[in-house]
Amino acid sequence: MKVGVIGAGTMGAGIAQVAAQNGHQVFLVDLNQEVVEKAKMGHVKVFERLVEKGTMTKEQTATILNAIHYSTSTNDFRDCGLVIEAIVENLEVKHKVFAELESIVDENCILASNTSSLSIASIGSALKKADRVIGIHFFNPAPLMPLVEIIPAVQTSDQTIDKCKELISSWKKTGVVCKDTPGFIVNRVARPFYGEALRIYEEGIADFATIDWAMTHFGGFKMGPFTLMDFIGNDVNYAVTESVFSAFYFDPRFKPSFTQKRHREAGFFGRKSGRGYYSYAEGVEQPKPKEDHELGKMIFDRILAMLINEAVDAVFMQVTSPEGVDLAMMKGVNYPKGLLQWADEIGLEKVLLQLEDLFAEFGEDRYRPNPLLRKMVRENRNFF
Ligand SMILES: NC(=O)c1ccc[n+]([C@@H]2O[C@H](COP(=O)([O-])OP(=O)(O)OC[C@H]3O[C@@H](n4cnc5c(N)ncnc54)[C@H](O)[C@@H]3O)[C@@H](O)[C@H]2O)c1
Repeated sequence: MKVGVIGAGTMGAGIAQVAAQNGHQVFLVDLNQEVVEKAKMGHVKVFERLVEKGTMTKEQTATILNAIHYSTSTNDFRDCGLVIEAIVENLEVKHKVFAELESIVDENCILASNTSSLSIASIGSALKKADRVIGIHFFNPAPLMPLVEIIPAVQTSDQTIDKCKELISSWKKTGVVCKDTPGFIVNRVARPFYGEALRIYEEGIADFATIDWAMTHFGGFKMGPFTLMDFIGNDVNYAVTESVFSAFYFDPRFKPSFTQKRHREAGFFGRKSGRGYYSYAEGVEQPKPKEDHELGKMIFDRILAMLINEAVDAVFMQVTSPEGVDLAMMKGVNYPKGLLQWADEIGLEKVLLQLEDLFAEFGEDRYRPNPLLRKMVRENRNFF
C-alpha cells in the first residue's frame, strides 16, 4: 500500500520515515518547498548516522530513501491507501485540506489526522465519505516513540479501525485505541504531572529543582516536571493545557497556571529560548534541590495521586481500558510504570485517602476523587 503524508514538518517527516522503514512507498507533501527539502536532508542525515552506527547497511538505507517521494503536490496522493495529515493545528485549514484530499484519492483511501487537540469528528465533518476518517496520533520523535493513539470518530467504520490497528502493529508500534475526547489518553492523563507541580510551587511548598528532584528520586521519572516543561517548551505545553481546560468545559482539574503563563509571556519557553524555569546559558550553575526526604515524598505522593486519579477517570469515562492507559503512559511519555499498576501496588485505599485529604484541605473540585476509585475500594478490587 502507498502511504501519503501531508505536512513535512517535525511530525510529518518522522511519520514518513516510519512508513518507509516498514516497506511502503511514501509520498511526503508540504506546501512549502523549503520544508520539503529540509525533510529530505533530515532523512539523509538520519540514515547516514544509522549506517555509521552499524544499525543498517548502506543498501538498506538507500532502498528506504528511494521509497520516499518528496513534493509540493497533493496529486501525488492519487493511488495512496492511507494519507496521514500532519499540518498546522488549525481546524479551518485541516477542513480545506481534508476536502481537497477527498477529491484526489479513491473511495477506499483512509484519511487520518495526527492532530493533538482537535476532535476527529470535527475534522471528519469536511468529508463526504466520513467513515474513513480516523486519528492516528504519533508522539515526538515519531521514529523513536513506540506509542500511537488510534482514535475513531463517531463517523468511523469498524473496517477503518481494524485496518489501522493492523497497520500500526505491522509498523512495530504500540497502537492503543481511545475515544475521541480532549487530549485523547496521554495529553489528558499527563496534565497533573505539570499542573500539580506548578500548583505546589505556587503554594510555596518547594522550588522547581526540589519538585524535579522529588519526582525523579522517588518516582523514577526520567525528568522532573519543570525540566520536562522546559524541554517541551512552555509555549507548547501551556497551549495544550489551555486547550484541554477549555475543551473540558473549564473543569478545575485542568486549570492552567499563572506561573507557566507568565513564563510563556516573558518568552521563557525553555531550552529552545535559552531560559525557562531554569537558565540554559553557558556556564550557569543549576540550582540545587533541597533534598529533604519528608518534603520530597510528600510532593511525589501528591502529584502521583493526582496522576492516578486522572488515569482512573480515563477508564471510568471509557476513553480506554486499564491496560490501554498504562501502556499509553509508558510508551508515549516514558513513565517508569503504568499509573494503574502503580495504584494497585500502593493500594487503592491509600490513594483514595490521599485525594480525600487534599479535597478536604482545599475544598476544591480539582481534588475530587474519581467515583470509580471509590467503587473499587468499596468492592476491595484492583485494576490488574
Ligand atoms: N510537535 C509535536 O510534538 C506533535 C506531536 C503529536 C502531534 N502533533 C500534531 O501534528 C501536527 C503537525 O505538527 P508539527 O509539530 O509537525 O508542525 P510543524 O509546524 O513542524 O509542521 C507543519 C507543516 O505543515 C505544513 N502545512 C501547513 N499547511 C499546509 C497545507 N495546507 N498543505 C500542506 N502542508 C501544510 C507547514 O508548511 C509545515 O511544514 C499538528 O496537528 C500537531 O498538533 C504534534
